[in-house]
Amino acid sequence: MAVLRIREYPDPILKRPAEPVDRIDDTVRRLLDDMLETMYRAPGIGLAAPQVGVSKRIVVVDVSEQKNAPLRLVNPRITWRSEILVAAEEGCLSLPDQYAEVKRPEAVEVVYLDECGVERSLEAEGLLARCLQHEIDHLDGILFIDRLSPLKRSMVLRRLTKARRLRASA
Ligand code: NI
Repeated sequence: MAVLRIREYPDPILKRPAEPVDRIDDTVRRLLDDMLETMYRAPGIGLAAPQVGVSKRIVVVDVSEQKNAPLRLVNPRITWRSEILVAAEEGCLSLPDQYAEVKRPEAVEVVYLDECGVERSLEAEGLLARCLQHEIDHLDGILFIDRLSPLKRSMVLRRLTKARRLRASA
């Protein structure tokens, strides 16, 4: 397994809709494992392939405390959303150290292919539902800042620029 380089905003690959995977082979399985290692190392609770420079519809997630419940999702799609929306703070490995409240459906159903190409479905609520929606957004070129008001988005981007300047001068 290998740790991959995480692409950060405003890398154009983050804005590009990702391509569906048509064959789940060893290359895809290796990418899934490398993405998990990269996510655990960051550390993060979810990672989408465009964030490591691969414009494919592939996502990994693990919201467990012990980091022992990895989910590997190929071509995931949301097939149901609850009407109830909840707001909670989100961050993103592509926007390091930036957080903002995002409103999303509290629960979702996701249909996806596992690493063997078997179709599965998953009902999720709370943090897992939020994380899945955030990662699937990445596959459509959507970042969590795109779900904020223009004012809040520019606040987050200003903070990001400032944090980068500090990091560069440190
Ligand atoms: Ni993200």
